[in-house]
Order: sequence, then structure tokens, then C-alpha cells
Amino acid sequence: MIINFVTIFPEFVESFINFGLVNKAIKKNIIQFNILSLRDFSDDNQRRVDDKPYGGGSGMLLRYEPIKKAIDSVGEGAYNIYLSPQGRKIKIQTINRFINMSEITLICGRYEGVDQRLIDNHIDEEVSIGDYVISGGELAAMVLLEALVRRIPGVPEDIDSILNESFEDGLLEHPHFSRPETIDDISVPKVLLNGNHEEIRRWRRKMSLGMTFMKRPDLLKNVKLTKEDDKLLKEYIEEHKNK
Ligand SMILES: C[S@@+](CC[C@H](N)C(=O)[O-])C[C@H]1O[C@@H](n2cnc3c(N)ncnc32)[C@H](O)[C@@H]1O
Repeated sequence: MIINFVTIFPEFVESFINFGLVNKAIKKNIIQFNILSLRDFSDDNQRRVDDKPYGGGSGMLLRYEPIKKAIDSVGEGAYNIYLSPQGRKIKIQTINRFINMSEITLICGRYEGVDQRLIDNHIDEEVSIGDYVISGGELAAMVLLEALVRRIPGVPEDIDSILNESFEDGLLEHPHFSRPETIDDISVPKVLLNGNHEEIRRWRRKMSLGMTFMKRPDLLKNVKLTKEDDKLLKEYIEEHKNK
């Protein structure tokens, strides 16, 4: 997969790709990563890429032309994604769609954003990390990149642990515990210590259903619960009703 990154802060992105699974994916040649410094595509003597918006008002705008040139420089066929608070919120389904693409270009806005003509004519999709505004698209694109890379087979050591995580089956993941067995008089749930895999599986499923019910009941509307799930969720509610 080829991932292109259009930014006015290439150094910011360069430091990020030296760490974690993104770095591993690059080293294993599973992704090819190209950082396109927007200023390299400016025809201005001072390499400026922004200008004042028509109609007045505060703030500057990233100009159409440098971004268009950057997009064109990677050739045809890339899917152009603009990180924007006005885009659709990124969900696991968005990530699953993007990992099947052979080439994507992530376009990071700054200031007031980018010229609308660019969005209308050259952007395939606008995506958002949430209903709030940050100062630039770089962090948003990195969020997308991390979510994407960890789901590409061959990148994480253990894809199974990733496929058990929250949202994969529409639910939140069950809680985890590690050593010591007791700390500050708080013990690990006994069921996790008895080595009975079937009991552990049931407990984890019950907790996954219960935590989703407590924290994100909206998710349950989109999950088809089995008879066992219904029973486990009732058990969870019963066990926690006085807590
Ligand atoms: C200050 S914001 C511009 C906000 C724009 N004027 C508006 O009100 O819709 C500058 C850039 O940050 C990025 N950005 C800000 N918030 C974002 C979000 N929630 N998701 C994705 N990108 C975001 C976008 O690339 C945007 O062009």
C-alpha cells in the first residue's frame, strides 16, 4: 500500500513515522510512505502556500494550486482523503475500507482550511476525527494512519489480539488484568486464575457486553446478540445493579 502525506510540516510527520507499528510497516515494505512538503509545490519565491480568503475575515487559507500539484505529483489512481472537521467521523468501517486501497493521499489542512474548489473537484472523501477543531490535519492524519496500519496483516506480530479489540465485533473489549494478583487489597477476578478456558471465554464475553451496555449502549443497537449473549448481558446487569 502506498500512503502519501501532503503537509506544510514534513518534519512533524517524519518524526512520527520512526516509531511503533507505522515504522515496522515501512521497514517490512508493507507500506511505502511518501511525505510531500507542500512548500515544494509553491511557485512563490518565498515558498508561500497560503493566502487571504475572498470576502475578508480573519485567517488564511491553503491555496488550491500547491495542493493540486502535490496531488498530481503522485500520479493517477490514489484516493484523495482530506482530513477535515466537516468530514464524516472515522469509524472502524472507514478503516476497513481504506486498508483495501492500493494508494491513498492524506491531505492536511492548516489555518482556515483549504480552498473549497479543491475539495469539490479533487477530494474523494473528507474524514474527521471528531466534533471539535484542531489546528491542522497532521495529527488527524496520524490518527487515521495508526488505526489503518495496525490492521494490515503482517504488520502486528499478533493480528488476533488486534481483531479482538473494541469495535471489531461491534462491542467494547472486556477488561484486562496483569500481575500482581492483589494490589491495594484489590484482587484480579478469580475466574481469570482458574485456567478454565470456557469459563474465561464466557466471563470475557459477559464483560464485553456489559461494558458496552454501560458505556456505549448506542453500539448494541447494531449488534445481533445470540441467545447466550442475552443471557450473559442479563447476568451482568443483575450482578451490577447495586454497584
Ligand atoms: C483550524 S482547522 C480549520 C477549520 C475550519 N475553518 C472549519 O471551521 O471547519 C485547520 C485544519 O485542521 C484540520 N482539522 C481540524 N479539526 C479536524 C478534525 N476534527 N478532523 C480532521 N481534521 C481536522 C483540517 O485539515 C483543517 O483544514
